[in-house]
Amino acid sequence: MNERRWEPRIVAFVCNWCTYAGADLAGTSRIEYQPNVRLIKLPCTGRIDPHFIVKAFEQGADGVIVSGCHPGDCHYTSGNYYARRRYTIFRKLLEFLGVDPRRVQFSWVSAAEGQKWAEVVNVVTEEIRQLGPWPYRWGEGKRNGKLTVEPPPISAERSLPEYPEAQFTAPLREVARDLLERGEVGVIVGYGEGTLPEVITPLFVTQPEETDQLVWNARCVHNLSVYLTNDLVTKLGRVGLVAKGCDVKSIIGLLQENQVQREEVVILGIACAGVEVNARLAPQCLTCEVRTPTLYDHLIGPPNQQTNQSTADPRLAEIAQLEALSPEERWNYWQAQFARCLKCYACRAVCPLCYCEQCIADKTRPQWIPPSAHGPGNLSWNIFRAFHLAGRCVDCGACARVCPAHIRLDLLNLKLALEVEKSFGYIPGQDPEAAPPLTTFRPEDEQEFIR
Ligand code: FES
Repeated sequence: MNERRWEPRIVAFVCNWCTYAGADLAGTSRIEYQPNVRLIKLPCTGRIDPHFIVKAFEQGADGVIVSGCHPGDCHYTSGNYYARRRYTIFRKLLEFLGVDPRRVQFSWVSAAEGQKWAEVVNVVTEEIRQLGPWPYRWGEGKRNGKLTVEPPPISAERSLPEYPEAQFTAPLREVARDLLERGEVGVIVGYGEGTLPEVITPLFVTQPEETDQLVWNARCVHNLSVYLTNDLVTKLGRVGLVAKGCDVKSIIGLLQENQVQREEVVILGIACAGVEVNARLAPQCLTCEVRTPTLYDHLIGPPNQQTNQSTADPRLAEIAQLEALSPEERWNYWQAQFARCLKCYACRAVCPLCYCEQCIADKTRPQWIPPSAHGPGNLSWNIFRAFHLAGRCVDCGACARVCPAHIRLDLLNLKLALEVEKSFGYIPGQDPEAAPPLTTFRPEDEQEFIR
């Protein structure tokens, strides 16, 4: 029987001014090359959003090429430099999810390099031919994803801290009352005892006599900086915000991204020794280096000089375990995680840095992310969410804590944070004046992955 041979389907996103012209030159010069590539022309590599790649795979591509002008030649001056940074991290994300990095390839091809374009297409086509068809159905894998090795056991030095009322809750109430009485703030956003026993909830205090409801203890885990971009809160006036050192890192992120002005918030910084999650010290607290917040207007509690405990963050061991798996095992692990996603968007709701008025997940024209909670939509949503936070997430852990499906969003975020630090030497939440790493570039940024 005459069976049709499988051939790779490759989508190439190219910039108009260099690679598209180079491909055109290859054609007018009658250079022969593999016919497996479908070309999609965009103004610049700076416009080639990683979402396009996700969409290409979702719709059946076996491989993707992104190509544009050589460094220094971009017709919009620097679009390719920005793109290079984005793709440095995006490739790492795909690899961590179990995608073979050879399926997403990058090149610089100028308008004069018709021959080079033909060579790039030939080489990439052959590599993808060797790899075979895209091996997974988008958003599906074996539902057996579990890490086989447990993270290191919890040691005694991770016991929960105590916060004497006289040193924390009492001065907190006093400062809050004073700020409200003097009219310096319109609302204090802090913590209060919930209606259920042992449950701490966010508390919004607008009257001095209500400040007695404010508390501080090891259960005050929520990152309240999410309310700084909430109109219902900010319309009450200038905000006084109770913030741990890690929450202050989110505030710094909001300052960097011009979502909050420094004069709009009074920070009641807590000299924190850690908070609990499931009766254990939160993993982020094990290696916390900002026990005394780096930015505050009033410090609550004695300054805590202790930094960086001797114990390691157990999540690093989990990331190492995932990296040691085969790509297929990693894919299955993450598909099993994402299969549980309900699309409740609780992760988005608690994230201080998810402040867009309209999230890409809610857009319908075009619809980037299928809204229902099925495999393909869940995978696309979780890829986008993680990538949008790359270089911005301050590891407050809120998303993973609130996820009702217990998806390990913290591992994805942490992995990308490690990659950002390794590639660009950047740690989020430190400097309100610094440009977030994916909104800037250095001409000498790494590019060994680009042909
Ligand atoms: Fe070609 Fe910017 S115009 S990469």
